[in-house]
Amino acid sequence: MADPSHKKVILGLTGGIAAYKAAELTRQLTQGGIEVQVVMTESACGFITPATLQALSGKPVFTDMWDARVSDNMAHIELSRGKDAIVVAPATADFIAKLTHGLADDLLSTLCLARECPLLIAPAMNRQMWDNAATRRNIAQLEHDGVVVLGPASGDQACGEVGMGRMLEAVEIAEAVSAFLAPKFLSGKRVLITAGPTFEPIDAVRGITNRSSGKMGYAVARAAIEAGAKVTMVSGPVSLSSPVGAEITRVDTASQMFEAVRRNVARADIFIAVAAVADYRVDKPREHKIKKTDERQLQLKLVPNPDILGWVAARPRAPFCVGFAAESRNLDVYADEKRRRKKVQLMVANRAQEAIGADDNEVMLLDDAGTHRLERAPKEVVARQLIAHIAKLYGATRRKVKA
Ligand code: CTP
Repeated sequence: MADPSHKKVILGLTGGIAAYKAAELTRQLTQGGIEVQVVMTESACGFITPATLQALSGKPVFTDMWDARVSDNMAHIELSRGKDAIVVAPATADFIAKLTHGLADDLLSTLCLARECPLLIAPAMNRQMWDNAATRRNIAQLEHDGVVVLGPASGDQACGEVGMGRMLEAVEIAEAVSAFLAPKFLSGKRVLITAGPTFEPIDAVRGITNRSSGKMGYAVARAAIEAGAKVTMVSGPVSLSSPVGAEITRVDTASQMFEAVRRNVARADIFIAVAAVADYRVDKPREHKIKKTDERQLQLKLVPNPDILGWVAARPRAPFCVGFAAESRNLDVYADEKRRRKKVQLMVANRAQEAIGADDNEVMLLDDAGTHRLERAPKEVVARQLIAHIAKLYGATRRKVKA
């Protein structure tokens, strides 16, 4: 299957202290499957070395209009051709002023002026520079010209002051860039996602849980947001940052997850159950910590949890349902059996021992039309391919319903 996430961007760095964040941004973008060509201004090289960015992007960095590596000496034109966007991060007040007036006195500003693709900028400057009437005018003009302005954020500044002007964090810029570039397969659709493990208490301090990290569910949520969906998540306990733009309800137990899903399901067009829900919970967890005794055995009575996915799929006007099957053997047979039993349109199967907690995943998609394999890749990439597949199947079912 073609990878819809394969995009190419120019990442331009100008000379501000936030240039250090561009290293992490490069890593985040490339990890998300985006090809990054770094271009730096002379003053950016005073803050961070091209060698660092070259190592992280895997490509030589360009800093000069007259770079001999471009055979016709047209680096200022050539580099931006075939790119999906130019992202300038950090964008200093000076560079923003140059962009506003169409100045082109170095490689990056010339590339911006000669571009055929969208331009995104992440301003980074002292709060007074940001508040200055000249910068306000310049930003308003750039927005009017169709430039996408990401941030800035408010907070501690390198100069010791506090206020508006600091550059967004790398992860926020990477998410915004990915969202900007993604095809809008699910524009306006409401997607409800469960993610992470559940935690079933035994007593005041102990509980039963599993090794799910939530990474796959969170990646699916991000990919759905990128595809234009309105995402509601119900998340078990994880230590991951929330996908920007998702509405999140945090829960511990399967029963709480079920309640949150019940509250939100009526509005959902698509339900994706990624959570590793405990099949059983402790009957009557103790209010206080269980003390050690001389008894040779301690017995816990477990009772079954509600099957959230099964319940959603059995509703009269059920959303399009997607389940995840983590199997340790007989992957396709067990997963297809689960798909039929739970009556879901799509089951995503993976190997429990390889997928849980890992950064990469390799999955098999099982639906009425057969089986597709998505090759091993970072979970972000797999999630985007999965969302593209869901959008295709969802579109087909809606057409069938209308016919
Ligand atoms: N699921 C759910 N609620 C549960 C258990 C599972 O919503 N109480 C969902 C999971 O989020 C996943 C799918 O059902 O999308 C498959 O879960 P799994 O636990 O693997 O399936 P089971 O039917 O519990 O089968 P088994 O544990 O025997 O493999």
